[in-house]
Order: sequence, then structure tokens, then C-alpha cells
Amino acid sequence: MEKENKRNTFTGSIGFVLAAAGSAVGLGNIWRFPYLAAKDGGGLFLLVYLILALTFGFTLLTTEIAIGRKTRQSPLTAYGKLKKGWGFLGVLSCLVPFLIMPYYCVIGGWVLKYLCTYLSGFGSQAAQDGYFEAFITGDKEPIFMMVLFLAFVVFVVVWEVNKGIETTSKIIMPMLLLLVVAIAIFSLTLKHTDGEGIMRTGMEGLKIYLIPDISNLTVSHFFTVLMDAMGQLFYSLSVAMGIMGAYGSYVKEDANLAVSINQIEIFDTAVAFLAGVMILPAVYSFMGQEGMQASGPGLMFRSLPKVFSEMGKIGNIVGILFFALILFAALTSAVSIMEAVVSSLMDQFHISRLRAVVMEGAIALIIGILVCLGYNKLYFELLLPNGVTAQLLDLMDYISNNILMPIVAIATCILVGWILKPKFVMDEVEKGGRKMGRKGLYQVMIKIVAPLLLLVLFLKSLGILTFI
Ligand code: ALA
Repeated sequence: MEKENKRNTFTGSIGFVLAAAGSAVGLGNIWRFPYLAAKDGGGLFLLVYLILALTFGFTLLTTEIAIGRKTRQSPLTAYGKLKKGWGFLGVLSCLVPFLIMPYYCVIGGWVLKYLCTYLSGFGSQAAQDGYFEAFITGDKEPIFMMVLFLAFVVFVVVWEVNKGIETTSKIIMPMLLLLVVAIAIFSLTLKHTDGEGIMRTGMEGLKIYLIPDISNLTVSHFFTVLMDAMGQLFYSLSVAMGIMGAYGSYVKEDANLAVSINQIEIFDTAVAFLAGVMILPAVYSFMGQEGMQASGPGLMFRSLPKVFSEMGKIGNIVGILFFALILFAALTSAVSIMEAVVSSLMDQFHISRLRAVVMEGAIALIIGILVCLGYNKLYFELLLPNGVTAQLLDLMDYISNNILMPIVAIATCILVGWILKPKFVMDEVEKGGRKMGRKGLYQVMIKIVAPLLLLVLFLKSLGILTFI
């Protein structure tokens, strides 16, 4: 057994906020948020999401970061240390990033492939029907791209936290913000006349995205929006994935947690919102409202290349900037997912960072190859309880996002809300005379509202609550 490692810390609040925002801002913000907003009719989804971010998101984020800093432990060992008999929650919390890591790298590899396509000037090929399918069902290229992506993540995580993760986030996050703002402004200036002579503008698309349409609202539709927004919030804020606990354990005692948590929330929500401004007006201009709503998960890899190709020559440049932006976002998130597992291995087995990274990197590599082959030699179709027909990647996503994450979040609410009591977290946030806002809200959310909403989300994703 190796010597116990001295715990590294972020150098200051900015480093922590940018690293945590780097984790939060990922494929969830740029790919998942806009397609869900489009599917659920824009404005209403946005409104529900914002309310949930300020209540539910704030509660889970605060809880996990405070537990991390209080225990100075990674997710795997933190819960058992907090309360005897709750070690199982640590195991589940660590299992989530362990499962997500391989397939997140596979999708990261897809993004890398599209960036390479645009960089080599072949963006118009990416717009052709069947391009995406032909690529992911290939037997070598998806694996090669996944390995490149994983190699970069390993390279960042192997350094001490304040050197690898913090430095990378400080460089990438400002660039990402700049790119998202620039592409969003460009998207709003678009105008396109289709084959039938109908002209649509980016500004009209923005209105659909922003103004809630409640004219045909039914209870069932509202619940769909609520559940979509809540599932998205989880994914987006990187909560219930063991990540924020791990990052919290690297925060200095004198850091102002309340302020940092607000900044992380604002950063994450602003980028998700801007991703919608960047994507939806462009898709609306070129494909109309129906095209916008029908794109679904294929929005990023199937619909957007068509939009870029319609833009003419400039489309290739926009494609480069767009996929570079998504690559940055995916990299900083993948780094945090790997760190949650690596820190757990280090704390549990008292091994060096290098050894933990090699172990987790090798496992992610093997499972990642299997996930790639899930579209090729290992192809199968499985109908999931939520109605989705899944391949290996979707199955792993379903187990981690729809089963394990709600269980982790519900158990965390019960532990903190009813056993340790909310004061435990509030005291940690207020350590050193700092002030925590929204304390009343926090108590009601952690004890009652969050676990109940989570239970509904969980039962719905198991296919049990089919009437809402
Ligand atoms: N929070 C990360 C994302 O949005 C995992 O992709």
C-alpha cells in the first residue's frame, strides 16, 4: 500500500468556480438543453428550467459541495465517513461517473471527428444523409477518435488538481464563453428564404425560444416539461454524479461557498441559455418550427451540419467554431467525471494519482471500445421501460442517468434532510462567518420538495408513472 496522499486544493475561488463550471458546462448544455427546449416548445421549458435551477439545482449543488469540503473525501469514502451504514451511497455515487466516463468519451470522439471534418474543409459531407450513421457504425474510426479524446482527459487528470484541472479550466472556459456569445450573435443575424419563398429570420426563432406558449397546455404536457427540465438540470449541473463532492473536497476552508455556488449556477445556466440562442434561431431559419421540434437528439450531428451547409462558405467556419466549442465543453466535463473516480480510488486504496489514473483510464478504454462496437459487431436493440429503443450506449446512459442518479439524489436528501439535518450543510457553508442565502428554501427543498420530485422522476423513468 502506498503512502496516504496529502490532499491538493484549488489555489482560490476563481480556480474552483471555473473548474466546477467546466464540469457543469458540457454536452448537456450545448447538445441536450437546446433539443429539449425545442421539443418542449421553447419558452415554457426555459421558464420551468430557470425556476428549478434556482431551487432544486441550488439545493443539490450546495449539498454535494458542502459534503465534499466538510469530509475532505471523495464520493466513495465521504458518505460512510459522515454516517455509519451509509457507505453504500458512496459506492453508488462513484458508480455513476464510472459508468458515464466510457460513453462520454465515445461521444467526445464523435465531436472530435466532426471538428476534424470541418477543419479539413469537408463540412458539406457531414450534412449528407447517413454521414453520422456511417461514421458511428464504422469499426475503427469511432474507436480511434474515442482514444484520442480519452488520452487528452488522462493527460489533464494525471497532474495535481491545481495544475491540470484548474489550469485547463482557466484557459478553456473564457474561450468557450467567447465562442458561444459570438456564434449566438451570428445566429440572430440569419435570414433564409426556403424553396416555397417563405422567409424566416433568426430573431423570429429567438421569439419562439423565449416566449412561453401556453395556449394548448395540458397537465400531461406540463409534467413532461417538468420532468425533462429536471432530468436536464441533474445532468447539466453534474449533481448526483459524485463530481461536485470530489471538487468540493479540494476547496480551501476560507473560500466563500455560497458565492461560488451562485457563480457556478449562473455560469452553467447562462451557457445553456446561450446555447439555445446559438442553435435554435439558426435551425428555425433554415428548417422552420417543425424542423426545430423534430430534430431531437440528432440535432447536433444531423440537423446542424445541414444548417451550416445551407449557409454557404461561411458555414464551414461556423462549423469549426461550433465543434471546437463543444469539444472544449466536453473535455472539461469528462475531466471532472474521471476525477470523481480517480479521487475515489486514491482515497479508498491510498494509491498515487498516477496509478489511479492508469487504472481508471484502462477500464474506460476497454468499456469505451465495447460501447463503440455497440453500433457495429455488438449491435442490439433493447426496449427500455421509458420507451426508448437502446443500444449499449443508451443502456449505460439509462442506468446511470435514469436509475442510479435519482437514487443517489433521493438518498442524499434523506441523509442530509432527515438524519444529519440541513443545519449540517448550512453550518459548513457559513463557516468563518460567511452568509448563506435562501436558507429557508434550502430546508424545505432538501427535506420535502426535492425528494418527492425526484421520486416522481424516478418512477416515471422506470415506466411506472405512465399517466403523467
Ligand atoms: N454536466 C456535464 C454536462 O452537461 C456532465 O455534460
